[in-house]
Amino acid sequence: MTNKQKIFRTQVGIVGGGPAGLMLSHLLAKSGIDSIVLEQRSYQEIYETHRAGILEPGSVRMLIDTGVADRVLTDGVRHEGVSFRFDGENHRLDFVDLVGQAVWVYPQTEVWKDLADVRAREGGDIRFLTRVTSIADVTTTPSIHVRDHEGRSGQVRCEIVVGADGSKGLCKKIVPKEHRTDYFHRYPFAWFAIMVESLPSANELIYTHSDHGFALISQRTESLQRLYFQCDRDEDPAIWSDDRIWTELRRRMAGTDGFELQGGPIVEKNVLGFNSYVREPMRYGRMFLAGDGAHVVPPTGAKGLNLALADVKVLHRALESFFQSGSEDLLNEYSDRALERVWRAQNFSYWMTVILHRYPDMDAFQRRRQRADLHARFDSRAGRTLLAESYTGWPAHELVGV
Ligand code: PHB
Repeated sequence: MTNKQKIFRTQVGIVGGGPAGLMLSHLLAKSGIDSIVLEQRSYQEIYETHRAGILEPGSVRMLIDTGVADRVLTDGVRHEGVSFRFDGENHRLDFVDLVGQAVWVYPQTEVWKDLADVRAREGGDIRFLTRVTSIADVTTTPSIHVRDHEGRSGQVRCEIVVGADGSKGLCKKIVPKEHRTDYFHRYPFAWFAIMVESLPSANELIYTHSDHGFALISQRTESLQRLYFQCDRDEDPAIWSDDRIWTELRRRMAGTDGFELQGGPIVEKNVLGFNSYVREPMRYGRMFLAGDGAHVVPPTGAKGLNLALADVKVLHRALESFFQSGSEDLLNEYSDRALERVWRAQNFSYWMTVILHRYPDMDAFQRRRQRADLHARFDSRAGRTLLAESYTGWPAHELVGV
């Protein structure tokens, strides 16, 4: 069989065709570096997966400046702030006033579509429905073994492998135990996510702390809204009637300011589990990990996609320097540089999660303490500024290499 396998050659073999993999192949192509992207799902399957919708200003700049698309500016919505709701009232973070920035609500599936479209237009080699079965010789001359949806196997021989294959990906698993440290944190709850056909309940996002648990009001369009509320990890969305969902959401959004939730037909229900995870280092031999292939954040800080794009920016520079000059200096620094931002985002996402959710074993002391923590930050301009910097991605503070 082996002698019948097709062999493909490229400079960079990218495992995973999510936003990280596609953005990297786009940037590499602009630098004249050849890559092949291997993605086991179909175009349709990826496009139909809903993910979070917040882009930091740095991510928006990256999409525009690298010529991916400026659809984010026309179809996305610029948000100049978000609110945290606690003690039954909204407390707004005014990003423009505090840090001179804004974020964009533009769903990840649209970012992904823009990337897939630009790669297709420019003749990028993106192979959907192609599963990576193993990776050999990753410390010397890597070859990625693949099988397509018709059962044909082949090999991609490359100088560099990039593991952009998501949280369940193969790449990080092939690193021997003695060459890695995994940091993991599990949360005892999940998010119940719904898509609702209604007018928006608010112009900006509302992250809500309540005695009944966390809720988040987000938006998609003038007639489609994205709402979330905390639930058990093993919750079955099928047993939740629409009435029960609205009762739960209204209970959590209740307050003294007359806020009213817009009801409407619920067109989708899902339960999303999440964890915090970091792999160190984000490299093994000639393989570099990026995005969810290296780290996972809970969705509370909306950092997942932004972190993936930040990794790719650092990795692209390192690969460009390697292929143009043969120097491995930047490649050697990649992991440390990327991890600096990763850990900042981990800390922020963890804080957002633990301060806003209700833990199953939480006593009255802990709930009271959460509110004191929120008040301490929101009652102080310094506290609000730090939150605004974190939410918008620390744009005023050039992180090393980013
Ligand atoms: C979303 O709109 O899907 C969204 C927004 C903010 C988050 C998570 C998800 O923190």
